[in-house]
Amino acid sequence: MNTKIIKIKQENIEDLLIEEAAKVLKNGGLVALPTETVYGLGADALNVEAAAKIYAAKGRPSDNPLIVHIADEKKLEDLVSHVPDKARQVMKAFWPGPLTIIFKKKDKVPYGTTGGLDTVAIRMPSHPVAKRLIEVSGVSIAAPSANTSGHPSPTTADHVIHDLSGKIDLIIDSGLVGIGIESTILDVTEDIPVILRPGSITKEMLEEVIGIVNIDPAIMGNGLDENTAPKAPGMKYKHYAPKGDLSLVTGKTIADVVEVINKLAIEQLNKGFQVGIISTDETKNLYPYGIVRSIGSRQDEMSVARGLYGILRDFDEDEVDVIYSESFDQDNLGQAIMNRLLKAAGHHMIHC
Ligand code: TXA
Ligand code: MG
Repeated sequence: MNTKIIKIKQENIEDLLIEEAAKVLKNGGLVALPTETVYGLGADALNVEAAAKIYAAKGRPSDNPLIVHIADEKKLEDLVSHVPDKARQVMKAFWPGPLTIIFKKKDKVPYGTTGGLDTVAIRMPSHPVAKRLIEVSGVSIAAPSANTSGHPSPTTADHVIHDLSGKIDLIIDSGLVGIGIESTILDVTEDIPVILRPGSITKEMLEEVIGIVNIDPAIMGNGLDENTAPKAPGMKYKHYAPKGDLSLVTGKTIADVVEVINKLAIEQLNKGFQVGIISTDETKNLYPYGIVRSIGSRQDEMSVARGLYGILRDFDEDEVDVIYSESFDQDNLGQAIMNRLLKAAGHHMIHC
């Protein structure tokens, strides 16, 4: 298949280009589109054949449900059987934005979109291009992250091209995304809502609006023990691991961490291994050895989230054998950042 790539600037959206993408969606095709979190691989959520194409293109297990993207709350009536009060409150506070909510689904939503579940995940993205495409097409867009299953989520169109070129109809290139890690997933089908995946809408932010919120215990710590399957099916799959052996290093002070990483780097280099270091803007110049990249600035957690998946992909290109990464505090956005980094590291943490 020939994959067409079109550039659409979010500050100057060309209607003709949006219409071209809308047509592909209406005809049951696949369009990779920017969202504020990561790029998504979109298809008509109510067209079971179109949804099936997503699974084929990504190599995604068929029991892993898709998130349905809408641009108007009125669409909810079509898709879900009940909207609890707490859902209305968080929608009011955080939609459009990086919050996915799990509802009981209506019959109209095919099991081919929900991975066989009676619930459906819905999100209203704030990215202007995503919004316009949903509005113009009139389609509720099922869209997982636009990566090959097992790869990091794409934060640029180049990442999408790398993974899916030749497998999908169209890619919309709108440059680097704003957030860089996937949406927070909140299950409101129980009395006390549960976070199934941490994201940039944090537990603290949700609790300010709806009171107590739990976090699915299966995604905490090193998670995946056999007795507690995560409630978001996607969280149970072995997550992306970089080709190089990644360890996170944590210590009382950043200076301690830098010192230990430098010591480890020398040891590995002396053994003949290629070393990669995930530093920050503040520490980048303190590492004399190995290939050193900055994930972002400690002064700006958002920049760290935005840099995360790209840096992992870059180190794969560099073909380093081992990677040492600085760690981050697990409060606020740090919880989502560390959730993704720990998974990539197979929960390998060095304390110093
Ligand atoms: O930010 C995002 O959410 C991005 C952009 C494209 O919107 N999408 C995304 O989709 O991250 P994906 O497919 O990579 O991750 C969706 C996650 C999976 O872990 C899946 O298991 C979970 O959402 N999920 C979807 N529907 C669910 C449901 N009904 N119940 C529980 N978990 C669900
Ligand atoms: Mg994904």
